Amino acid sequence: MLRTTDTTDSTTEPTTDAENTGAVIDLDRHPIAGDDAARRELVARCRTSLADDGCVVLDGFVRADALARMADEGRQVAGDAHFNETITNCYSSDDDPTLSADHPRRIFMERTNGFVAADRLSSDLTVRRLYHDDALRRFVADCTGANVLHEYGDPFGHLVFNVVRPGCQHPWHFDNNDFVVTVLTQRAEAGGVFEYCPGIRSRDEENTDAIGAVLAGDRSPIRELDLQPGSLQIFLGRDSLHRVTRVEGDRERHVLILGYSREPDQIAGVDRTRRLFGRVSDAHRRADANGHSLEAVGTSTGGERS
Ligand SMILES: [Fe+2]
Repeated sequence: MLRTTDTTDSTTEPTTDAENTGAVIDLDRHPIAGDDAARRELVARCRTSLADDGCVVLDGFVRADALARMADEGRQVAGDAHFNETITNCYSSDDDPTLSADHPRRIFMERTNGFVAADRLSSDLTVRRLYHDDALRRFVADCTGANVLHEYGDPFGHLVFNVVRPGCQHPWHFDNNDFVVTVLTQRAEAGGVFEYCPGIRSRDEENTDAIGAVLAGDRSPIRELDLQPGSLQIFLGRDSLHRVTRVEGDRERHVLILGYSREPDQIAGVDRTRRLFGRVSDAHRRADANGHSLEAVGTSTGGERS
């Protein structure tokens, strides 16, 4: 995994207008804008890391002053999170009693996850300035090999705060979206650690023995990320089993999830939206009715985690 810990002096004041990319993103450390050699080299390293490891973390991506505002914004809206408590297996599928009792599909774990929908995040927030940044979107597209990325068209899901309360966890699972882009804005006091098993399965090999071993306690394939607030993480979770360990202490863990899609105007359906946010909008109902929702057309986005 690529993890940049460049120690370039990041105290330089932004020299551009506050609306610019550089007001939120530390371009001295992470030259994501423009089209110069430094950017090309950064993109190449990120692509290699995603291919090898399914993960990239860019430490210190968000400038300290912008991060302080984003963390504040997360705390302000966290009370609006909808919490979803379930018992789930790593595939988010039903049980299959025809399989042996130790098959991964038969191992169910407790999951409690909270999501604050995008319509709770007003247009003047710093999290929005980060999300709507064109240079960032182009950078993510280049890193993930997408020709073009669009802002995810879902009115709730395009920009989301994930809130994990003390005592809660997001257990071992695979994602069903292409990639996830996140910024940790508030760490837990303890626990709340992102752990993953790079490429434990593939399109050709489900590798249930290795997956079952991890669920039973084998830590040998596990990598642990000590994510720092302000780091940008791009993660490919389809084939890498991953989890957020139980949050300990008194402080919630807050992660901003930036949703992108390969096609414009994509939107989730009613069922998924209700499960994640506890409510739906007319736009979600219309998308289902017209057969345009992601569920209806059988695709996915680099959006909110399910
Ligand atoms: Fe995930």
